[in-house]
Amino acid sequence: MHEKLVELDQHRSAFLDELSGISALDSLEQLRVKYIGRKGLIAGLFKEVGKLPNEVKGPFGKALNELKTLATEQIEAAQQRLEGEQIRTEVDLTLPARLPRTGSYHPLALVEREVRKIFQRMGFTVERGPEIEDAWHLFDALNTPEWHPAREPTDTFYLEEGGILRTETSPIQIRVMERDKPPIRIIAPGKTYRNDKPDATHSPMFSQVEGLYVDKGVTMADLKGTVLAFYRAFFGSSVKTRFRPHFFPFTEPSAEVDITCAFCGGNGCRVCKGSGWIEMGGCGMVDPNVFDAVGIDSEVYTGWAFGLGIERLSMLAYDINDIRLFHENDYRFLGQFGGRR
Ligand code: DAH
Repeated sequence: MHEKLVELDQHRSAFLDELSGISALDSLEQLRVKYIGRKGLIAGLFKEVGKLPNEVKGPFGKALNELKTLATEQIEAAQQRLEGEQIRTEVDLTLPARLPRTGSYHPLALVEREVRKIFQRMGFTVERGPEIEDAWHLFDALNTPEWHPAREPTDTFYLEEGGILRTETSPIQIRVMERDKPPIRIIAPGKTYRNDKPDATHSPMFSQVEGLYVDKGVTMADLKGTVLAFYRAFFGSSVKTRFRPHFFPFTEPSAEVDITCAFCGGNGCRVCKGSGWIEMGGCGMVDPNVFDAVGIDSEVYTGWAFGLGIERLSMLAYDINDIRLFHENDYRFLGQFGGRR
């Protein structure tokens, strides 16, 4: 046999030998470059064909073509095998499935639900209203004067398309009184918006619950009793309330309600800043001007209303010290409120 054909046979054995030792895709690629690459061994041998004696050219060329085909096919097969192995080691199909994260109720939803339940037990029904309001329901019918700061675009979000993001849940009172005749006994929870710079106690979006009771002979004593009953149901039976005179356009007289601090029982601590009392919300007797605006006869009916902040309640209920946590949707925060309080 011509020495060139013997040499070719040695290349063939060497190739198969090297291939059998390969177990990774990168060394297979090196082997491919070495043998069938553009400047590889086989390409080099093709260049020598012309210099061979005529009688060797034919058999050598044929054997070289066979070697090229063999190398190409073998490398292709090895590549498929190694890629398959790589997928099987990266994706371990025997692993147990990763279960999706189970959801949990938002702390504000939990507190709102508890507030609803307490008032439903006392005979109140739950109403909702639109978050985008008009000036009539948000200000005019609520006896809010033209000069009131709540009407200022610096305090309140006016939408370009018209409409105002409600600054309080009080307009729901108006919508209910326009629709229903007394007796009326409702609460109305929902989101509210004010142009406040966010900090630990302010958020441009927050939530309130409104309360409204209208009937013949409703007095401020009913208001005080109902508010006290609510806070005792929510925080515990030792809670006391305190009503301080205040002003709201839609109630006369108006008051702000404080409760004894749920953390120190009234002795004074970090949460109540040493005073023993915590301010919770506003309330009062429905102003006759409000009754006039909705067509309820203020000579026949009286009523009271209140509004309180749900974030405030939640912060006390769960000892949360920053209102921004409620709206950042951080799983590490939200995941702590799985079940019911
Ligand atoms: N709307 C008031 C506020 O956001 C809270 C309030 C006070 C509501 C007195 C009432 C009320 O219904 O009678 O500050």
